[in-house]
Amino acid sequence: MAYGPAPEAAGPAREWLEAHGPTLGHYIDGRFVPSADGATFEDQDPATGKGLTRVAQGGAADVDAAVASARAAFTSWSRTPGHVRARYLYALARMVQRQARLLAVLEALDNGKPIRESRDIDVPLVARHFYHHAGWAQLMAEEFPNDEPLGVVGAIIPWNFPLLMLAWKVAPALAMGNTVVLKPAEYTSVTALAFAELAGRAGLPPGVLNVVTGDGGAGALLVGHEEVDKIAFTGSTEVGREIRRATAGTGKRLSLELGGKSPFVVFDDADLDSAVEGVVDAIWFNQGQVCCAGSRLLMQENVAPALLDKVRARMELLRLGNPLDKAVDIGAIVAPVQLERIRRLVAQGESEGATVWQPSWSCPAEGLWYPPTLVTDVAPASTLAQVEVFGPVLTAMTFRTAAEAVALANNTPFGLAASVWSEGIGRALEVARGIKAGTVWINCTNQFDAASGFGGYRESGFGREGGREGLYEYVRPSWEKRAGSAAAPAAQGKPSGNGKGNGHAGEASSLGSSRPLPAGDVVSQTAYLYKGKPGPGGAPVLRDAAPDGPNGADGDPFAAYPPLDRTAKLYIGGKQARPDSGYSRAISGPDGAILGEVGEGNRKDIRNAVEAAHKASGWAATAAHARAQILYYIAENLSARADEFAARLVALTGATRREAMAEVEAAVERLFTYGAWADKYDGQVHATPLRGVTLAVNEPIGVLGLVCGDRHPLLGFISLVAPAIAMGNTVVAVPSEHYPLAATDLYQVLETSDVPAGVVNIVTGGRDALARVLAEHDDVQGLWYVGADGDEEAEGARRVEALSAGNLKRAWVLDRPTARDWLDPAQGQGPDFLRQATQVKNIWVPSGD
Ligand code: NAI
Repeated sequence: MAYGPAPEAAGPAREWLEAHGPTLGHYIDGRFVPSADGATFEDQDPATGKGLTRVAQGGAADVDAAVASARAAFTSWSRTPGHVRARYLYALARMVQRQARLLAVLEALDNGKPIRESRDIDVPLVARHFYHHAGWAQLMAEEFPNDEPLGVVGAIIPWNFPLLMLAWKVAPALAMGNTVVLKPAEYTSVTALAFAELAGRAGLPPGVLNVVTGDGGAGALLVGHEEVDKIAFTGSTEVGREIRRATAGTGKRLSLELGGKSPFVVFDDADLDSAVEGVVDAIWFNQGQVCCAGSRLLMQENVAPALLDKVRARMELLRLGNPLDKAVDIGAIVAPVQLERIRRLVAQGESEGATVWQPSWSCPAEGLWYPPTLVTDVAPASTLAQVEVFGPVLTAMTFRTAAEAVALANNTPFGLAASVWSEGIGRALEVARGIKAGTVWINCTNQFDAASGFGGYRESGFGREGGREGLYEYVRPSWEKRAGSAAAPAAQGKPSGNGKGNGHAGEASSLGSSRPLPAGDVVSQTAYLYKGKPGPGGAPVLRDAAPDGPNGADGDPFAAYPPLDRTAKLYIGGKQARPDSGYSRAISGPDGAILGEVGEGNRKDIRNAVEAAHKASGWAATAAHARAQILYYIAENLSARADEFAARLVALTGATRREAMAEVEAAVERLFTYGAWADKYDGQVHATPLRGVTLAVNEPIGVLGLVCGDRHPLLGFISLVAPAIAMGNTVVAVPSEHYPLAATDLYQVLETSDVPAGVVNIVTGGRDALARVLAEHDDVQGLWYVGADGDEEAEGARRVEALSAGNLKRAWVLDRPTARDWLDPAQGQGPDFLRQATQVKNIWVPSGD
């Protein structure tokens, strides 16, 4: 029995277009306006290839006007109580539901996707996003008490899910008190404009949401606008890279959701019929124009022939045609350029020896169509196994063992999503853990929900959309601004303390804090420290850190130590290593006297250190409890040598004894903090509609480059290294350029604290030259950067952010816009660091037979 045509009426949607035409304007400050220069372009209906409407092409004046409107609205929107914002978002959700059919039909007309998908998936998920985020607006004050909105968000979205991508960005941005300028994709501007108008009608104040239409040029203007505080982008990896470079050093926050080449892994114990339906959803949903499309079918060898037979049989039954036909599975390709790209890539695959199979039926003669396509006989390195086609093209390959499946799955620069099919839950979860991707669906695919974060590992971008994890993309810690308005922390080496007093909280504030530390803060809490050798039974002896001097009755260690004369090598793979350059740099104290020398690290040393850090990747799998123990052990050993480290700090930086001791004590406490966090920064089970569980797991990022500043050279170093390794990363750390001996003295501490070789690698030398090498290195997954103060720091930050675009590593500039006071726990430690040290993987596990 065949389906007859069941077309959805397009009347109301066409009436909407006519009423707003012949050219749709930008939506700025609550009303439609034409482009300042009158420029327009044609928007086509992909199913017919004919013009649907005309749209305004945004230029600089339009972007300026939209940003000015958003900036003006921010003042009151950001102060609007959470409950009131929640009511607005709730109103938007209700509005989407009331106008669901109009929005679904407009989306199908403009994008070419089947009405079945826009009606049953896109639009309901949009409503769900606004409901969910209405809740977050309501809860912001309680759940994010130390955060505030960023300001104006520039949202740039692609054409594959125009309304849904709008919702993914606009809902969390507004919920957290930001205002938005949205730039939809040039092929699909219509629903964003319809949404904005309806939102205005639902009462959203003018300026809170603005829409500027146009091509990539309009997007670039938004990216470059000085008054924009954050760019949230979804689109191609190539443009993501451009945006990373364009925003480098500007202090703009950035989240990137980019491409993918997601694996769909089928084991021999999978329910093959279910897996076939999964394949249909994975690669033929939205014509395969899905960033997380399961475009690589990886089959266990012994079931491959049976599975492929079933897939081919199912492909014959897929229905392609008029997107407004409710019985159609596959709609039109969005634009001629995209169709051309698909054809070109498949032809290239064929020329490389791939076998291409398509069903026997043919596509309509008119319009932009591409049939579902299965490609076999592909090598893992070939074009169709590596390049994102963004079309209905499935590439099939085989594997033998689970380890081989994981290796094949990870054989891509991307890491957006994966699907794993096996009736063995242990095996499926183990494979899910092994695959580097932000989302893994077990025995299901393409599940999305507002309560669960979505986003990439590796070149699929950074940042999450949805769930609590997504909200951090739209807030900043309140101290940033508070501290910024006060004096910048004093650079150590020019200590501002008076050198008097008893070494307690009052003096600690003179160490560079812009506000006094309250009693009970770092220093007073660390008055009791592990010191000296273990007591009877191996227990460390607790002793009072004497108020008048770090060594109290034992005499003054600062007088007892001879002048420092250290020649420190690099520390790579658990061993001291001579610098490749053969050069050392002299390190002098504040009076100019040479205190020692450290190796002058170069590109080769960084390469070696990165290699050593990768070899130590087993650290990620080390139990959190064991990592915690090692952090405590480092603290204990550092504490045992507190006097010695304090003396070095005095000699190096000119700090007073008390200041130096306070820094060492704060470093010990910081290690304790992350020892404490190591087994407590756990994930969540998200409350999605899935029957089963959606597990949000915090995973380490991999190898992190840590570039330290000069303020508090020991504490600053520990403040970066400790959270990074607590979360299972391995690190290549570049210590303070001017006071590196504070960190190189740690080698023995690390060696005696059971830190496995390669977990912490230390390369001394010119900070910015080494930062540059780390930023460019494709095997470094994240980079934290603290520079010198002032202009030099700004330039260093710009450079590392721009260079990080190569492999889209996560670059975190810690001291901008506000220099951190490392002694203030609110600034120098905490969940912010842990979030930067991890990435969330959401694993969806359905339950039931
Ligand atoms: P694109 O990345 O060029 O476009 C995405 C958005 O960015 C659009 O709104 C576009 O106008 C804007 N844009 C383009 N250049 C810009 C610039 N320099 N600065 C700021 N904004 C800019 O993607 P395109 O050309 O539409 O598609 C090309 C390929 O990208 C596809 O074949 C597919 O492989 C991939 N893609 C991936 C998507 C995803 O969801 N991950 C979505 C769309 C495309």
